Amino acid sequence: MSLPTRRALLAAPALALAAAAPAAPGLQARASRHGRFYGSALNVDALAADPALLVHIRQECGILVGEYSFKWAELEPQPGVFDYAKAEELMAFAARSGLRMRGHTLIWHEAMPQWLQEQLSPATGETLMRRYIGTVAGHFRGRLAHWDVVNEPMHPEDGPPFGLRDTPWLRALGPGYLDLAFHSCAEADPGALRVLNEFGIDYAIDWQERRRVKLLELLAHLRAHGVPVQAVGMQAHLDAAERALDQKVLERFVADLAGLGLKVIVTELDVRDDGLPADIAVRDAAVAAHARAWLDAVLPNPAVLGVLTWGLSDRHSWLDARFPRRDGLPQRPLPLDAQLRRKPLWAAIAASLEQPPAP
Ligand code: G3I
Repeated sequence: MSLPTRRALLAAPALALAAAAPAAPGLQARASRHGRFYGSALNVDALAADPALLVHIRQECGILVGEYSFKWAELEPQPGVFDYAKAEELMAFAARSGLRMRGHTLIWHEAMPQWLQEQLSPATGETLMRRYIGTVAGHFRGRLAHWDVVNEPMHPEDGPPFGLRDTPWLRALGPGYLDLAFHSCAEADPGALRVLNEFGIDYAIDWQERRRVKLLELLAHLRAHGVPVQAVGMQAHLDAAERALDQKVLERFVADLAGLGLKVIVTELDVRDDGLPADIAVRDAAVAAHARAWLDAVLPNPAVLGVLTWGLSDRHSWLDARFPRRDGLPQRPLPLDAQLRRKPLWAAIAASLEQPPAP
């Protein structure tokens, strides 16, 4: 039996695809009741490989983000050779499905093509960054809701000012690399919300408290110097076994971000369960309760625009490779299970999204 081609799958009548979708309103419908959004990361390979997932993406989401296709290694694999094919496939799917797209990510110390790692230096850094952001953000101008302009710049343990991570960009341009990135993006696509995206700012543990404090200092400095950063992405890669979830700490941090005039987006929510027992009901309940407690502390602030999970179904999660369970069972970090059924985590996200923002 020959498999349907990617073109045939993508041309499948939406009605036929939609027939399998569940009836109850999806997460986006529930989020939009209070002016928020819900969405998910999507790997471009799923467009041809997983039509069933796409039905649920359309049912649940209002916005998508490419898991990999908008990263430098994918968009400019060789210097001056831009390849937008996979990114544009995701854009086309989103457009056909009535979904918005967010860009992830322009400047990061990972997913850098080899040639860039070799060529980046104090002498070349500004030209390379201006050219890349001008070209790529210019290419998508007017079509993206947000850009993660700088991804994961914080690592206070490294020692540089403002708790910045010691990355090739910091070594080439100093802390001003962030200024240049945000100004370049504002010039190339003024309509895309400009986001600084970070992880490890979720729990009341020392290294994360240090990261929150230094991030707030950095953001205050950037805003005071007219750097056009508009929002913070809280990646929210959570751990159901982490007990130091303090809602007051989260509420205060989000209030501090809002106090700087910044919006907040939950950009990559998932909940690792490798520290939990194998029993599925036990894991699902603990994952849901953990996410609910975290979201109930964050979402009520009116500065919070919405939530994306880093995938929609347990069929595919980076966590299985990065944090494999000792018992070898697949993790269950996302709203739908591998059979695309809604889980307790789905209900927890729905319930938290249905709470109105604080007055
Ligand atoms: O290398 C191939 C490339 O040639 C091919 O075009 C592409 C097609 O999809 O696949 C590439 O393979 C791997 C890719 O994931 C598959 O999508 C890359 O080698 C691998 O490095 C890449 O890993 C991604 C990782 O970021 C690094 O970019 C993960 O899928 C993705 O889940 C992970 O996501 C990150 C966020 O961007 C930032 N926050 C943390 C999060 C989890 O690590």
